[in-house]
Amino acid sequence: MSTEQRLNDLRARKARSEAGGGAARVEAQHKRGKLTARERLELLLDDGSFQEMDSLVEHRCRDFDMDKKIIPGDGVVTGHGTIDGREVFAFSQDFTVYGGSLGEMHGLKICKVLDMALKTGRPVIGLNDSGGARIQEGVASLGSYAEIFFRNVRASGVIPQISVIMGPCAGGAVYSPAITDFVIMVDKTAHMFITGPEVIKTVTNEDVSFEDLGGANTHGSRSGVSHFTAQSDEEALNTARDLIKMFPLNNLEKPPGQKSSDPPNRSCEKLDSIVPEDPSKPYDVKGVINEILDDGAFLETQADWAMNIVCGFGHLSGNTVGVVANQPQHLAGCLDIDASDKAARFVRFCDAFNIPIITLEDVPGFLPGISQEWGGIIRHGAKLLYAYSEATVPKLTVILRKAYGGAYDVMSSKHIRGDYNVAWPGAKLAVMGADGAVQIIHRNRLKGARDPEGERTRLIEDFEEKFANPYKAAGLGYLDDVIEPNQTRDRLCRALEMLLDKEEIRPARKHGNIPL
Ligand code: HXC
Repeated sequence: MSTEQRLNDLRARKARSEAGGGAARVEAQHKRGKLTARERLELLLDDGSFQEMDSLVEHRCRDFDMDKKIIPGDGVVTGHGTIDGREVFAFSQDFTVYGGSLGEMHGLKICKVLDMALKTGRPVIGLNDSGGARIQEGVASLGSYAEIFFRNVRASGVIPQISVIMGPCAGGAVYSPAITDFVIMVDKTAHMFITGPEVIKTVTNEDVSFEDLGGANTHGSRSGVSHFTAQSDEEALNTARDLIKMFPLNNLEKPPGQKSSDPPNRSCEKLDSIVPEDPSKPYDVKGVINEILDDGAFLETQADWAMNIVCGFGHLSGNTVGVVANQPQHLAGCLDIDASDKAARFVRFCDAFNIPIITLEDVPGFLPGISQEWGGIIRHGAKLLYAYSEATVPKLTVILRKAYGGAYDVMSSKHIRGDYNVAWPGAKLAVMGADGAVQIIHRNRLKGARDPEGERTRLIEDFEEKFANPYKAAGLGYLDDVIEPNQTRDRLCRALEMLLDKEEIRPARKHGNIPL
C-alpha cells in the first residue's frame, strides 16, 4: 500500500466509526429531539478540544449473526477534552449503534476512560443513552458493567463523576449513574428504571407509563435519584459544564473559584426584615441564600425533592461553597427522611472535594409521625449527623431563627465541630418550642391554675424571654457571635477567608460505618 492509500484506508476506517449506526438512525435520533453522541460531546466540551480514543475498537461477539454487524467504536464515543480550559474525560453512548447497548468492548472502553481519569486526577462525565446490557453478548456484557461499577466506586471521592441521562438507562445500567456524584436527566427523553412497565405489569399487575415510572420528573421529585432536570440535551450539557467549573479536578486540589465584582462586605439590608415576626410564619430561605452569595448566583441541586432542605453551590468572595439551608416554606423546615439523605450526601460530596459548607439554619426539629419513625428517621437522620461530624472542610453556620432539639446538634453545631457559628438576634436555641416546653414542664401547674389560658400565655412569654434567644448559647461559647442580619455576607466572607487553610485530622481507619 502506498502512503496515500494507507492514509485513505485510515480515513475510511475513522469515517465508518464516525458514521455510527448510519444516516437513517441518526435522523431517527434527531426526530426524537435527541442529539447524537458526537454532537453531545461537542457541546459538552470546549470547541475543538475533544480527542477521541478507541474509535477503532470492535466487539468480539460471533453469536446471533453479530459478526456481520460490526461497527468500529462499538456504540460508545470515548476520550478527553476541556471544559473552561480544564481537562476532563467523557464517554457518550451512541444509541444509533445497537441501541447504545453495552457489550464487553463497549464497557471496556468506558473502563479505560475511568482508569485514565483516576490516574490523571480528572473528572469524568458520562452521557448515557442505552438499551442496557447487550443481549447478544450475555454475561460478557454483565461483566463489563461490573467492571464499570467497581471503577465508579474506586473513583468516588477522588475525582468528580457526573452522569447525564439522555435516553433509556435500564436495568443494572442505572447503578453506574447512581454511584456517581450527580445525575442530570433530560425531561421526556431520559428514563431510568430497574424493571420496565411491562415487567412490572407481569409481576405486580401495576400499570405505569415509562414517564411516570422513571422519567426526569419522577426521579427529580419523587425518588431523589436525579439532581437536575433539563429541558433539552443542550441544557443538560450546560449544567454539567457549570458543575465542573465549580469543582476541583480531584480531591487533592482546591476548587477553582471565580472572580466577582460583588464586594465581600456588601451590606444585606433585606435580611434585617426577611424573617417574619410571627415564629410560625414561613419565608423563602432562598431569599437569604441569593442575598448572601456572590452576584446572587446559586446552582441548586435536587430542587424539587425534599424541598424542606435546600442544597446547592455558589461563591463567597470568589470561593466555591456548598450551601445547606432549612426551608421554612416546606414542612416548616423540619428534617425528615428524604431531607436527611439529601443533605447528608451533599455534605459528603463537599467534604470529599474540599468545598466549604455554609449552613443556614431554621429548623423546628425532626418531622414527627408514624411513617417517619417506621421509615427509619432515626437511621436516616443519623446520616446527616454523621456527615457533618465527619466533614473537615470549613463549616460555617448561621442560625436564622429556630434551632430546636436534636436538629440543633445535627445542623453543623459547634459541638460537632462547626468552625464558625453565629446567630441572628431573633434566633431561638432550645430543646423545643415554647408551647411544647411549657406544656411539659408546667403540666401540673396549668392543671391547677384558675385561668389556665392566661397562665399558659404568661409561662410561654417567660420561657421565650429566658431560653428562646441566642444569648444563652453565646454565653456558653456555642456561638462565636450574634450578628446583625445585614452583616451576614460580610462576616461569612471574612470567616471563610480565615478558614480556607484549615486543617483537621480524624483518626486513621479503613472507613467509618455511616448508618445507611
Ligand atoms: C442489544 C439492543 C438492546 C439491547 C436495544 N437494542 N436494546 N440490542 N441489546 N439491550 C437494539 C434494538 O434491537 C434495535 O436494533 C436498536 O437497538 C434500537 O432499539 P429499538 O427497540 O428499535 O428502539 P426503541 O423503540 O427506542 O426502544 C428502546 C428500548 C428498547 C426501550 C431501550 O430497545 C428496549 O426495551 N431494549 C431492551 C432493554 C433491556 O431490557 N435491556 C436489558 C436490561 S437488563 P435495530 O438493529 O433494530 O436498530 C440490563 C442488565 C444490566 O441491562 C446489568 C448490569 C448489572
